[in-house]
Amino acid sequence: MKVLLIGSGGREHALASALNRDPQLEELHVAPGNPGILEIAKCHPLDINDNAAIVKLAKELAIDLVVIGPEKPLVNGVADALAKEKIACFGPSKAAAQLEGSKDFAKKVMHDAGVPTAKSFTCRNQTEIESALDKFGPPYVVKHDGLAAGKGVVVTEDRAFAIEHALQSEQVVIEEFLDGPEVSLFGISDGKFVIPMQPAQDFKRAFDGDLGPNTGGMGAYSPLPWAPDEIIEETLEQVLNPTIAEMAARGTPFVGLLYAGLALTSRGTKVIEFNARFGDPETEVLLPRLESPLAQLLYAAATGNLEDFGGLLWRKESAVTVVLASAGYPAAPIIGEPIMGIKTNDHSTVFHAGTELKDGLLHSAGGRVLAVTGLGSDLTEARDAAYRTISKITLHGSHYRSDIALNASVAEKGN
Ligand code: AMP
Ligand code: GLY
Repeated sequence: MKVLLIGSGGREHALASALNRDPQLEELHVAPGNPGILEIAKCHPLDINDNAAIVKLAKELAIDLVVIGPEKPLVNGVADALAKEKIACFGPSKAAAQLEGSKDFAKKVMHDAGVPTAKSFTCRNQTEIESALDKFGPPYVVKHDGLAAGKGVVVTEDRAFAIEHALQSEQVVIEEFLDGPEVSLFGISDGKFVIPMQPAQDFKRAFDGDLGPNTGGMGAYSPLPWAPDEIIEETLEQVLNPTIAEMAARGTPFVGLLYAGLALTSRGTKVIEFNARFGDPETEVLLPRLESPLAQLLYAAATGNLEDFGGLLWRKESAVTVVLASAGYPAAPIIGEPIMGIKTNDHSTVFHAGTELKDGLLHSAGGRVLAVTGLGSDLTEARDAAYRTISKITLHGSHYRSDIALNASVAEKGN
């Protein structure tokens, strides 16, 4: 099988590594890729927002399967452009990608499918905004309707700030605050059938103790020793299956990865958000544990044959991913600094997220620079492996959280 993967982050590096392990993979092409991916696949320069260029490259390379990493090309309709040329694509159509592209759309689908989620109002002016905020009270949750690269959601006690944030977008979703731990659970879907992956937890705040601003994600771990055993089955039945069925019933089947961001509240599991693609850094923590052949899995999903694929096999080890971020991230990342000291071993992998080569030397090129995943017999060992590797990397002014999976590892040891 010849696969073309679109994207250039840590998620795509982890996808490329896992695709490479599939014995049926013949060629792996990535566009545009990054210096880490370049070591394991053929990279091609490309504007990921140019659908025609993606189709052209897939045709030139006689690709069997295109896998789309980021949300933007999906919302731009790249899957539809590939479908026109009869090229299999793992990633939803433009219409189905609205599950991520519009919070209001996602809410309507959840409502019609009977999927548990926070109560919400969609508002378009100040009167509606204030009335919704006062209906729910603090903490206020305000979400811009469209794609916002992680900057669209505000959770605040400050009513004036909530209004200010809401007025920055033409349409906002204001919803009740959900209390309880957050879990990310991914479903692979062929439009009719869903295979759930294992749950992971990511750390969205910039600094230890969940302090500081929201980020794209500073780390993750999986599995979750504290989570109820039935979480996968329950999410499949209450969230993933009904959503996929609803999308099919609307005539816009969802083919690809349905990312359910869940809150485990005292009143049951509720959906915080849907994404239409693999999460980042959850992918970096999940895929090193996946034993099932990823190219075959994604091809089965893209061609409507998932039901025959069977369940997924996972390594027994735990995994912990720690993200190395540039100085100033997330507000104003300083990039272009040299990176040194990357050494992997049997227990850890370094995924490139925002790097570039300058005169053959590795430099930072983004807010999140590297994602280091450690594997171990439990979370404590996995943490040790990840932190041993990341602590040897030098990048001027960079920072990483020291408490990724810490509480869960202590609780696990206590059991
Ligand atoms: P989203 O982009 O919808 O995932 O929101 C980003 C982050 O905001 C989530 O991961 C949560 O930490 C927080 N958040 C979103 N919606 C809610 C909610 N209804 N209640 C509490 N926190 C929320
Ligand atoms: N980990 C959060 C995201 O991928 O959106």
